[in-house]
Amino acid sequence: MNHPENPGDDARPARREVTVRAAAKINLHLGVGALDERGYHPLATVYQAIGLYEDVTVADQPDWSVHLRGEATIDFDAIPVDEDNLALRAARALCGHHGITDRAARVEIHKGIPVAGGLAGGSADAAATLLALDRLWELQTTDEDLLRIAAELGSDVPFALLGGTAVGLGHGEQVQPVEDNGQWWWVVVPSNDGLATPTVYRHFDELRGSDVPPPEVPDELRRALATGDVGWLADCLHNDLAEPALDLRPDLQRTLDAGREAGALATLVSGSGPTVLLLCEDQAHAQLVRLGLADRGHDGALVAPAPVPGVHEVSYE
Ligand code: C5P
Repeated sequence: MNHPENPGDDARPARREVTVRAAAKINLHLGVGALDERGYHPLATVYQAIGLYEDVTVADQPDWSVHLRGEATIDFDAIPVDEDNLALRAARALCGHHGITDRAARVEIHKGIPVAGGLAGGSADAAATLLALDRLWELQTTDEDLLRIAAELGSDVPFALLGGTAVGLGHGEQVQPVEDNGQWWWVVVPSNDGLATPTVYRHFDELRGSDVPPPEVPDELRRALATGDVGWLADCLHNDLAEPALDLRPDLQRTLDAGREAGALATLVSGSGPTVLLLCEDQAHAQLVRLGLADRGHDGALVAPAPVPGVHEVSYE
């Protein structure tokens, strides 16, 4: 996560800007328990980082500001650029941790993850901002502290730091890597209208009431990941939020059906939705499934490999 390349090199000039990349997450298993007194649901989830990315560039500036960039398909109106922006909240939290009051930065977010799609794009921005500022200002924040700050910002932010494939417990913030020997390929089908995560959790409560057993990660899924067998993984995918998401957005069933018809091995609602995920044999198969989906009227699907690394610095030179 945070490994300075030249820790002993004091002669380096201070860097003027740093770019960090963070990946989208999906949940291969999302087990949800009953609402707790803090307004959260206990989770037993298996996260996987997939190859859709946010690139966050930070540069010294007298005042804080956030700027959004990306394809025209991104719904920029749905993202706040004021103090509610999660990247900015991450920056403030890091400053708070180090007692920094006299520095600020321009934060530019190049978005490649659909907004409000159940892919944790905002969490990726927060995680990338934490590492980018840590590097820019050479703060040497420990991995432990970064994970702790991330957990305060949102349930999915620690996993965005970690990447790969990991179990998430607590309300999703307690992350632990798991053995994953697969090279998986996903077709990601974004949806025009986002679904707000709290709305989907609320509807889960309405549908399931309080009589919900504590969630668990199935051993079967761990074994499928360790073997790298895609047919086995296809049988293990599960999402407790699929039912409320589909109840709120019945049209998503058509996307799931079209994915099956196009030849996907398995279909899954991503997190709280509405993005739909299609598991494929390999890259060539994923391209075929994407074309098959387009033939059925579902344009704009993306092909993504997994697992991919957590936050890391990138250079455009
Ligand atoms: O943690 P995060 O800010 O991403 O969560 C957004 C909202 O999603 C929470 O305010 C809560 O309503 C809901 N949530 C939940 N249980 C979780 C994670 C999120 O109820 N484990």
